[in-house]
Amino acid sequence: MTKDAWLVVGNGAIGLLWASKLRQLEQPVTVLCRSDVPNGMLTVEDLDEEGSQQQTQYDVEFITKEQLEGKYTKVLLCTKAFDLVDAYLDIRKHTKKRGLIATLCNGLGAQQDLIPHLKKQQNLWAGITSEGALKLDSNRVKKTGNGDAFFGLLAQSESNLYGDSFPYPDVQCHNIERRLLEKLAVNAVINPLTAIFSVRNGQVLEDPVKPIFEAAIDELANVMQLDSFKFKTMVGDITSEQLNMRIANVARLTAMNCSSMYEDVRHNRQTENEYISGFFHREAPNASAPLQDAFYAALNDQAHLEEHKKKLLAMH
Ligand code: PAF
Repeated sequence: MTKDAWLVVGNGAIGLLWASKLRQLEQPVTVLCRSDVPNGMLTVEDLDEEGSQQQTQYDVEFITKEQLEGKYTKVLLCTKAFDLVDAYLDIRKHTKKRGLIATLCNGLGAQQDLIPHLKKQQNLWAGITSEGALKLDSNRVKKTGNGDAFFGLLAQSESNLYGDSFPYPDVQCHNIERRLLEKLAVNAVINPLTAIFSVRNGQVLEDPVKPIFEAAIDELANVMQLDSFKFKTMVGDITSEQLNMRIANVARLTAMNCSSMYEDVRHNRQTENEYISGFFHREAPNASAPLQDAFYAALNDQAHLEEHKKKLLAMH
């Protein structure tokens, strides 16, 4: 372990992308892989200003859990929402007691579930990103869409002076809860629609998905303004038009990208359904969000996606 290295947990697309970003700041970076540790450097494929493909290599250390040693002050957890708590518990003894723990995962709920497990003086920064990235190999990632990223303090220990500001430029924000909810809305519309209809992100703006896309946004804007919605104060006033602008913009910027949920369904992997539509299913019960309920049911019943798709088309 190099002194004061970042530990990036997860070599999925976002983990690899962020490992490269931290390395660009000349920070030493260790990437914790679940299994296959790659030999070569980290390679990022991207388009340059003229639109031609370019590859940049970064010198990062790839290790497995067994090779972990020492204690890290800065940890970035880039895992699936359902893995977040276990991923932290796996490395907890290798984190400094006054450290900074940051998360970059989809959905809502997992970040809050992590708080009781933190060491008393650790600060928790929750992050969101709308950048598109595709993992090509265990040390190779391709940028597939521009987007933004934000981190905000979700849990602060009074006695931790370290980690009071986020050590990456221009991503720190003071209203991370609102951003988490907005990102949740992005994922709650784009991810299930792309997964159920087997389409790329940009195609949610086209027929036959478009009417369902629009109805899903109206539904979410209504839910977020309900007095019974526990998180209403977090999100403040939000209109359907604002939500539409935000979600359509992400769909356009990542138009050629296959969403993470579409990829998970295609490869028969566990999806983040519980932390995306499942969140609304639990937090807005009593038929307040029938489309989210329908998405949730469809993704829990992937053997019959075709039938769920037909039902959704008949609804809109
Ligand atoms: O989950 C994803 O794939 C991404 O969060 C997003 C923003 C939908 C872009 O593909």
